[in-house]
Amino acid sequence: MTRRPDGIRGTTITGTGMYVPERVLTNHDLEKLVETSDEWIVERTGIRERRIASPEQASSDLALIACQRALELANVEAKDVDHIVLATTTPDRILPSCACTLQQKLGASKAAAYDMFAACTGFVFGLGLARGLVGSRLADTVLVVGVETLSRIVDYTDRNTCVLFGDGAGAAVLQSCEAGVGLHAVDMHSDGELGEVLEVPAGISANPASDRTVAAHEHYIRMQGKKLFPFAVRSMEDSTRRCAEAAGWSPDQIDLFIPHQANLRIIEGVRERLGLAEEKAYVNIDRYGNTSSASIPIALDECVRSGRLKQGDKLALAAFGGGATWGATTMTWTMPTVRPAATGARHAKVREAVS
Ligand code: ACO
Repeated sequence: MTRRPDGIRGTTITGTGMYVPERVLTNHDLEKLVETSDEWIVERTGIRERRIASPEQASSDLALIACQRALELANVEAKDVDHIVLATTTPDRILPSCACTLQQKLGASKAAAYDMFAACTGFVFGLGLARGLVGSRLADTVLVVGVETLSRIVDYTDRNTCVLFGDGAGAAVLQSCEAGVGLHAVDMHSDGELGEVLEVPAGISANPASDRTVAAHEHYIRMQGKKLFPFAVRSMEDSTRRCAEAAGWSPDQIDLFIPHQANLRIIEGVRERLGLAEEKAYVNIDRYGNTSSASIPIALDECVRSGRLKQGDKLALAAFGGGATWGATTMTWTMPTVRPAATGARHAKVREAVS
């Protein structure tokens, strides 16, 4: 747990952006690929559809649009970004890093750019790093982006995984702020003992790509979903509690909770254990599935642009993912409201379908 030590600058989000590809892959489309049903997927996961990148789109292309939107909202020019922290499991290539490719496309010429591999927790870890950089005055402006083209590592013959994942990108601009608001605490954890629960077995140094690994589908995601489920609920609850306590809040004081969107039943489990009212947990998994490191920043940007967040709101974010990794953060929101709109009715409808 990293609390804000005395003397460190306050750090806050000053802009957000998201992008999802146009192509929609519905549960009914998946019924044609594997033995599954719309009913099973909705009941067990809450997912109805997900977005799929076009063959021409790499992760950096998705990230570029999300970052441009975040910078525009923050009123910051790309050339003024000091660091780009890009969280992903699906970079364009292993070398160069996806962050460097993004830096070039964005024109963020002075930024130090690097990838962070922390699976679905990557964006939360990125916020922790950004807070350290801004708080300690090593940087004034940090761009944290979560981006995935998971469709490139999903096995569309494996019904255990192919129904879950989607593509997308979300970004946030982090800058300094007055003391007492912005990010209060960031909780970051890993446990390599759980590595095999969610893995891509082949492709890099331990098991280089070969005709054999490709034939065995070892370059695709493999997951032991049942083992992950209780771990996900427990770890997100514990982490959120720690961050709320560090901010001086009881969990029920949280105004908006944005959990990683892996499974609606996991989200509901965490929400109930935290004692949060239904409308306080943001849900968009029905439209995007699990977009790993992109899921929280996509949800955050939807909340910002729909007017769901207002200055002074107590916000908590929580994630878990492969590695295993997990973490959370609490912050007092400082951005002015962008524009109002109602989203509550849609959330109620999704929950109704799953209960
Ligand atoms: N359609 C129909 N049946 C299916 C499907 C499907 N798509 N997938 C699995 N089944 C079957 C199983 O084969 C099993 O059949 P069996 O009983 O004959 O063996 C049955 O449905 C029940 O399977 P369970 O695994 O018990 O289903 P469960 O309710 O646990 O739901 C799920 C599975 C959705 C994967 C759930 O365990 C889960 O969400 N786990 C967490 C996964 C997760 O969050 N992963 C992302 C991690 S984040 C990251 O870092 C990327």
